[in-house]
Amino acid sequence: MKLLVTGSGGQLGNGWQRSLKDHSSIDYVALNREALDICDEASIAKALDSYKPDVCVNTAAYTQVDKAETQTEEAYRGNVLGPKLLAETCAVRGIQLVHYSTDYVFSGKLTDREIFEDGYPEDAPTNPVNNYGATKLEGEQAVLKALPSALVLRVSWLCGLDGTNFVKAIINRAKTLGELKVVNDQFGVPSFVPDVVEQSLFLIQYKQSGLFHLGSDGCTSWYNFAKKIVEYAQLDVPVEAVGSSAFPTVAKRPHFSKLATKRLNDLGMPIHSWEIGCKTLVSALNDE
Ligand SMILES: NC(=O)c1ccc[n+]([C@@H]2O[C@H](COP(=O)([O-])OP(=O)(O)OC[C@H]3O[C@@H](n4cnc5c(N)ncnc54)[C@H](OP(=O)(O)O)[C@@H]3O)[C@@H](O)[C@H]2O)c1
Repeated sequence: MKLLVTGSGGQLGNGWQRSLKDHSSIDYVALNREALDICDEASIAKALDSYKPDVCVNTAAYTQVDKAETQTEEAYRGNVLGPKLLAETCAVRGIQLVHYSTDYVFSGKLTDREIFEDGYPEDAPTNPVNNYGATKLEGEQAVLKALPSALVLRVSWLCGLDGTNFVKAIINRAKTLGELKVVNDQFGVPSFVPDVVEQSLFLIQYKQSGLFHLGSDGCTSWYNFAKKIVEYAQLDVPVEAVGSSAFPTVAKRPHFSKLATKRLNDLGMPIHSWEIGCKTLVSALNDE
């Protein structure tokens, strides 16, 4: 099998490359924006025709949640136009497309925590609270319209070795500030990059299509997540729980965004607890 990974310089794009080094039966090429711009049809066609992959894995996206409120054109291009062009270009060539989306497609009301005790299933009603989520939702729909056999994979609170993420930020702040204040009224579950890659590969290999939720088992708050990071990193710093109002953001954030992974688990893919994923990442960061 030959894979082409877009957005090679990003957190998930880098994670795909790290994991694929351990899969000797998979041939792959990973391209950055310069080599494949998902918003440029000619650039997509050139890369697909030159590398002739069986599967295109799109990790490229516009991911700046707060800036997406004002950079609406850029957010639309990266999250709707680009994925649509990729799906259309893959469709005419018979190439499978794997595309990533987000927990931010849901409204994230705290009351949903009681309705969806195990997290939002794939078919739960969507209603994004910010423009980033709205563009990601429109992107999902555009991909599945152009290529109904595509895989659209939603992930939440993504953390890995590369780029910027919550685990790295907490460790850095704990070391530099010596104390932490973290919100305790937003609930969800982290997805760890190596798990996301293995879960994606499982779905590719079992020729699945449509919407799936990926990630970890369990549900937590950012506050409890931070406490575990500090514990696993053996950093002796106090962590104070605060409400979301202590950290005002330009774009609204969901209060509940746990994704249920039952659909994936029912196919036979084991889902690890978020604590195991957290411990593994903290230890890997320590070894870097
Ligand atoms: N991070 C999270 O917490 C999170 C949560 C839920 C879902 N997701 C989703 O997971 C996926 C991966 O996210 P991530 O954290 O890996 O994002 P990331 O680190 O921001 O990486 C995104 C990559 O996409 C590239 N890119 C942007 N526009 C492009 C274009 N037109 N053509 C080609 N490349 C382009 C960026 O390149 P430049 O550096 O050149 O801009 C960057 O390398 C995205 O679909 C995201 O929406 C992420």
